[in-house]
Amino acid sequence: VCGFGMTETAITSVETDMSLRSRLKASVGRPLSNIDYKIIPNGTNENVGEMLIKSNAIHIAKLEGGKQVDPERIDCDWFPTGDIVRIEKDKRVFVEGRCKDLIINESGENVYPDEIEDFFSVLNNVEQFSVVGIKKHKNDIYEDICLVLNLGENYYNDNFTTQLVNEINNINSKLSVIKRINRVIVTPEKLPLVNVIKVKRLELKSNIENNKIIYKDLSLERKESIKSKSEPQVFVNKSHHELEINEIKNKVADAFSEILEISKDNIQYDAHFIDDLGGDSLQILSLALKVEELFSVNIEVVEYPQCTSINDISSLLYRKIKGLKNYESETERGDFLEKVIPIKNFKDSPEYIEFHEREQSLLKNPEDNPYFVRHESPLLDVSLMDGHEVLNFGSYNYACLSGRKEVNDAAKRAIDKYGTSASGSRLLAGEKQIHRDLEAAIAKFKNAEDAIVLVGGHSTNVTFIGNFCSKKDLILYDALAHNSIEEGCRLSEATAKPFPHNDIKLLEQMLKVHRDKYEKILIVIEGVYSMDGDIADVPAFVALKKRYGCFLFVDEAHSTCVIGENGGGVDEYFNLAPDDIDIKMGTLSKGLGTCGGYLAGSKELINYLRYSLPGFVFSVGISPALAGATLEAINLMQTDKTIMERMRRNIKCFVDQAKKLNFNICLAGETAIIPILVGSDKNAFILSNAMSKNGIFVPPAVYPAVPKNKARLRFCVVSDHKPEQIKHALNTLAAVAKSLDIQLPR
Ligand SMILES: Cc1ncc(COP(=O)(O)O)c(C=O)c1O
Repeated sequence: VCGFGMTETAITSVETDMSLRSRLKASVGRPLSNIDYKIIPNGTNENVGEMLIKSNAIHIAKLEGGKQVDPERIDCDWFPTGDIVRIEKDKRVFVEGRCKDLIINESGENVYPDEIEDFFSVLNNVEQFSVVGIKKHKNDIYEDICLVLNLGENYYNDNFTTQLVNEINNINSKLSVIKRINRVIVTPEKLPLVNVIKVKRLELKSNIENNKIIYKDLSLERKESIKSKSEPQVFVNKSHHELEINEIKNKVADAFSEILEISKDNIQYDAHFIDDLGGDSLQILSLALKVEELFSVNIEVVEYPQCTSINDISSLLYRKIKGLKNYESETERGDFLEKVIPIKNFKDSPEYIEFHEREQSLLKNPEDNPYFVRHESPLLDVSLMDGHEVLNFGSYNYACLSGRKEVNDAAKRAIDKYGTSASGSRLLAGEKQIHRDLEAAIAKFKNAEDAIVLVGGHSTNVTFIGNFCSKKDLILYDALAHNSIEEGCRLSEATAKPFPHNDIKLLEQMLKVHRDKYEKILIVIEGVYSMDGDIADVPAFVALKKRYGCFLFVDEAHSTCVIGENGGGVDEYFNLAPDDIDIKMGTLSKGLGTCGGYLAGSKELINYLRYSLPGFVFSVGISPALAGATLEAINLMQTDKTIMERMRRNIKCFVDQAKKLNFNICLAGETAIIPILVGSDKNAFILSNAMSKNGIFVPPAVYPAVPKNKARLRFCVVSDHKPEQIKHALNTLAAVAKSLDIQLPR
């Protein structure tokens, strides 16, 4: 027989069942006959919730002025155990967890209200108080740490509450960041009590959440924090000054442990996050975001390389906390700079030396170099590679419009009319009717009011993202975004932060923290990602940008001409309203088969860009040949319905066959990019070469373009492929891998 009870009680339940099977279920048994149990449900199941006990077995005591009060005088009814239990039909009790008193706040930390309450016991003229976790909205994951105060008559006294907020702020600033209260609720009503003194937190919480009592929120904002709105880059919260380096290290170690799922005891403080501890770059991102939250500091993307060991990240934090605004500012670095040796010959620069070493190792076997492979024909289902016809699975000519006769003819007609160059910036001398016709066609194709065309896709991103935002703005971009987006962020004066790939929840957390600190916030995503072929959940991003009043930019390089009934991209695929996406960016070089980039959006925005976007104003207009060819390509997308029918057939055929052969296609499935996971970079190179020797062109994608050990062969399906070609390519890969004894991950 096993008996159970809390420290404050005698044994309250016993398990008498002798069968091993019942014992293994680990109940704490049934209540003894003289014990009453009761549950305060914490959800819809009325048999699950906090357990209350009533019995003589409970030890009751209270001190008043240091003297024990006569137990008869203590109004003790039900004793809240603080345990969340489940009671089964046969009255067996199972302890499911600790009481909801525990607050899990936005930093993900567990906070015990008792610890915090003590600090606020010094508040003057407050009748009762308690600390509870309260969610702002029903569906939120985290709770605010909320100080609830019964002010009695003072509830109606504004001078009193202003003074109170000051007192609360003073106390709060002495608490560690994760334990600070972030909401204050005041009420004139009595707080519910368990016994004479202890507040019933669950009941209080439910009363507030269900508006059962009169209450109001007091704003904790101080005047100084309003000032911070116009100074978005707040690095230092003065109250962290006292945090000493060991305390910081300890907290950083907790973050490492949580993110890497490794016990803290097994992490050396100088171990490298990736090389020693097996983390990856996306986890570094999560780590940086976590410590930003924990310490209320801003970690710049360029500082991420300093976030690779507990020691490094802690000293970075320490310096920020101590108020050294720019960790590597010029003046600061000047003190430590070694003597500079001028580089007069580029061959002596460290970057060239490193490049040269890499190049030499690649060129050891020139025929194995997977880069700069020459194709002497358009890249359609087949192409002429080094004089041989190969099956082509390596190009972005998704709709096979480059090489199509109608498109070639249109380019030639434009050359005959205008020559080969626009011969000037369009603003001054380079404008042609064909440019305007093309922009009107793009605007119609992309369901936008207007569009502007630039000479390159990459430069379109760099110049737009680099210039749309100012110092007072914030750019939040997907961590897997294309290099052109990252370059744009680097150029921009705005603060730029990546969010983990497609992680809507984390993006929302970032918006909650940052929205009010910045004027414009630009969210940058891609419609389809080029390494995995996955489609972004654009409607979710649209909802978020609307909720937080941000601008949404979607790069449609790999979604235009690939998804949507007529190849119209994400708007068509998700049936979006014309203005759901603020800036629709795309390249002409992929599905449309030419070269250039476009931005489509509202007429006001596009008109502004025509006069102010540096990459447009200070660069030549797109060549007439490309403008003419793209116009015809768009026309074909809208008139030749077989392009998209064949595209869909081929994507499906590829996915079905890959699954049949048990290949791992990463996140792909509905787009023309379908990677096959290989694992090591070395095997990806070997397989790409072996495929090429078998007449199939498919390039490898390796680290750092993809995470370590996630190298892949990146197949691109085009509309001209035939099902037999697709099956042949995949069967060849299976055979080649088998013959080379390479096991592909399932
Ligand atoms: C997502 C994305 N955006 C922009 C670009 C740049 O486009 P372009 O090659 O037309 O300059 C690329 C090119 O691969 C891309 O994948």
